[in-house]
Amino acid sequence: MLEDIRKILFHESTILSRLDELAHEITTDYRGKDITVIAILNGSFVFMADLLRRIPLPLQVDCLSVSSYHGTESTGHVKFRQSDLANFRDRHVLLLDDILDSGRTLHAIRERLSSDGALSIRTCVLLRKQVESVREVDADYVAFDIPNEFVVGYGLDYNEDYRNLPFVGVLNEDAIRRGQ
Ligand code: IMP
Ligand code: MG
Repeated sequence: MLEDIRKILFHESTILSRLDELAHEITTDYRGKDITVIAILNGSFVFMADLLRRIPLPLQVDCLSVSSYHGTESTGHVKFRQSDLANFRDRHVLLLDDILDSGRTLHAIRERLSSDGALSIRTCVLLRKQVESVREVDADYVAFDIPNEFVVGYGLDYNEDYRNLPFVGVLNEDAIRRGQ
C-alpha cells in the first residue's frame, strides 16, 4: 500500500495542527448558533472525526452518502444514496467534504438543502484542488489547497482503497493503471 504512494503531501501532524486553526475559525463564526454538520460520506469520515472534536459548540451530526466518481474521473452525475433526507429547515448547516474538485457534489447538495429551507449553508473541505475551469460553488473553509493531482489517504480513496492511510499522498501511475 505504501509503495503505491509517489509523494506525501500532508503528514498527520500537519493536518491536525491545521485543523486546530480551522476549528478555531469555525467556532468563532458560529458562536451562539446551533450547528447541524452534514458530513459527506465516505470520504470525509476521518476529517469529520478530527475536526468536530476540536469544535466546543453544541452541534448535531448527520451523514449523507453520495457518489460522482468512478476511478480517478468524475462522472459528472451526483447520486444521492439515501432516498429521504433529514429535515434541515431553519437549521444552520455546515457541509463537510474531503475534497473540492469540480464542485459538482457540493453544488448539488447545496441546491437540495436550500430548497429544503436551511437557514444558512456553509461548506468546509479538507482539500481544494487547483482547477482551471470556474467552479459552480467554492468552499467557505479550506484546510489545504493542492495541485490538480489524484490524492488518497486520510479518508480519500481510489476505487475504495487507501482511506485508512493516516496522511494525504499522491498515488503513483502504476497504482492508478492497476485500478483501471
Ligand atoms: P467534485 O464533485 O468534482 O468536487 O468531486 C468531489 C468528490 O470527488 C470528492 O468528495 C471525492 O470523493 C472525489 N474526488 C475528487 N478528487 C479526488 C482525489 O484526488 N482523490 C480522491 N477522491 C477525489
Ligand atoms: Mg468521496
